[in-house]
Amino acid sequence: MSMHDIDPTMNPQEFWEQRYGTSDRIWSGNANAVLEKVAASLPAGRALDLGSGEGGDVLWLATQGWHATGLELSATAVSRAHEAAQRNGLADRIEFLITDLSIWQPSKHYDLVSASFLQSPVALDRAEILQRATQAVAVGGHLLITAHAAPPSGVEKDFERAMFPQPQDDLAALELAPDEWQVITADIWTRQGTHHGNPEPMTFEDSVVLVKRLA
Ligand SMILES: C[S@@+](CC[C@H](N)C(=O)[O-])C[C@H]1O[C@@H](n2cnc3c(N)ncnc32)[C@H](O)[C@@H]1O
Repeated sequence: MSMHDIDPTMNPQEFWEQRYGTSDRIWSGNANAVLEKVAASLPAGRALDLGSGEGGDVLWLATQGWHATGLELSATAVSRAHEAAQRNGLADRIEFLITDLSIWQPSKHYDLVSASFLQSPVALDRAEILQRATQAVAVGGHLLITAHAAPPSGVEKDFERAMFPQPQDDLAALELAPDEWQVITADIWTRQGTHHGNPEPMTFEDSVVLVKRLA
């Protein structure tokens, strides 16, 4: 489906329920490459995933020894993620909670807070959510924000350019106090992948922001 076919005024919960309802599974089930690369260099601890979808990142973190929580708007996606955790014997290290991040207030601290492709063609207070996410990071912990910074190569016409945040946009949204945070990465990482079942490889540009809480 082209992004131009979507009504941007649609209620976000209805939109994402409908989107997850189009198929038994809409994502690959694998962890995102950026998360794997970043988390592999960190000691396992407590992780929080914002907009966890069908749970690919949370499930992978649990296999690496993390205790991980996923927050997600769609009940269908949460139910799939929960089933996958049970099926893979990871349920004791994983929690998935149906949560609307637009009204979420952090109440715990995590060693890693991650938001992978927390992007939506309907209403999403992305900058406010990312700013609030800083409050969920423990001292010594990391916040990782991965986003599509451009449409996949070859299908640019299907997308509105405004949907694609750049690393500097996401970094600015965090409003970090310089003496409390270290910016480790704010850059575009390029990878090859496929898009919605099309076997043709495409180039993806990921905006990657990784910051560490010092105090
Ligand atoms: C592009 S998907 C990415 C899913 C997952 N992080 C991944 O990488 O496979 C965006 C996700 O954000 C979720 N989402 C959108 N708005 C949300 C909100 N207000 N609160 C919580 N989740 C939301 C959607 O339901 C969807 O699962």
